[in-house]
Amino acid sequence: MTASESLDPLAKTALWTASMRAREHAREDRLFCDPLADLLAGTEGPEIMQRFEGTVQPGVEDPALAVRTRYLDDRLVAQDRDGIRQFVFLAVGMDTRAFRLNWSTGVTVFELDRPALLTLKDELIARAGADSRCVRVPLGVDLVSDWMTPLLEAHFDPDRSTSWLIEGLLYFLDPRERDVLLQQLSEISAPGSRLLADYVGQTVLDSPAMAAWRARMAEQGHPWKSGTDEPGSLFAEFGWTVRTTAYGDPDADYGRWRAAEVAPGVPGTRGRYLIAGELP
Ligand SMILES: C[S@@+](CC[C@H](N)C(=O)[O-])C[C@H]1O[C@@H](n2cnc3c(N)ncnc32)[C@H](O)[C@@H]1O
Repeated sequence: MTASESLDPLAKTALWTASMRAREHAREDRLFCDPLADLLAGTEGPEIMQRFEGTVQPGVEDPALAVRTRYLDDRLVAQDRDGIRQFVFLAVGMDTRAFRLNWSTGVTVFELDRPALLTLKDELIARAGADSRCVRVPLGVDLVSDWMTPLLEAHFDPDRSTSWLIEGLLYFLDPRERDVLLQQLSEISAPGSRLLADYVGQTVLDSPAMAAWRARMAEQGHPWKSGTDEPGSLFAEFGWTVRTTAYGDPDADYGRWRAAEVAPGVPGTRGRYLIAGELP
């Protein structure tokens, strides 16, 4: 039995993204360092990556994950600099930011994901002997059920400004599950809280060019279920003011996006975007 056999298909997508970060870490011109990613991806992460790589366009290495990681790293570091001390990473997967970013004293990072995923992550991290650079609180939960009670019991403070990171999750939720999640986190967000996410346009998601990708994702047991063409309105419903950045925009390019030769008319990951918001 491989270490990752205890994971459900959706949790296994975290091995895939870890594998993409390991690949980025191995590049001389890497956009970030993630020395634990290779270990966390295991043997299955690279297999899943290979299964999907080239679905958008054969032979093209998808730069989205590297760009997204760096974009979010930069914003998390800026939020720390602004004085935010409470961070919640929803669907954290094999994200190692608690270990690799240079957090200020007093920062707590709550890491929420499926219990089996976090058990495996903790075993692998213990094996590597890595220490987090903040107070790290892993919490095994179901994000489409009651995850707030365990978070509050773990001393999350709703009166402090919080930074919520929702990376690699929203498109796996149906619109109702997404709205409930956004409602829940908004209810326990103090004024001045921040939010970072990635998501996908509904029109692109429903386009014929995405059909093969969606079918492949569904076959593997982790379908994409939602998107929105109006992220500003969606997040405003819950009180957030957000700014949307398309991959390839000046602050989400890092010399990678425009350089990737994806043919015109192939939307693929190009329908995806990054979101940074604040609760006034
Ligand atoms: C694509 S991975 C993203 C992981 C990480 N944020 C990243 O970007 O590498 C999706 C993650 O969502 C988690 N997830 C999906 N649905 C969940 C749920 N209902 N409760 C808890 N975690 C969930 C999976 O376990 C998995 O770790």
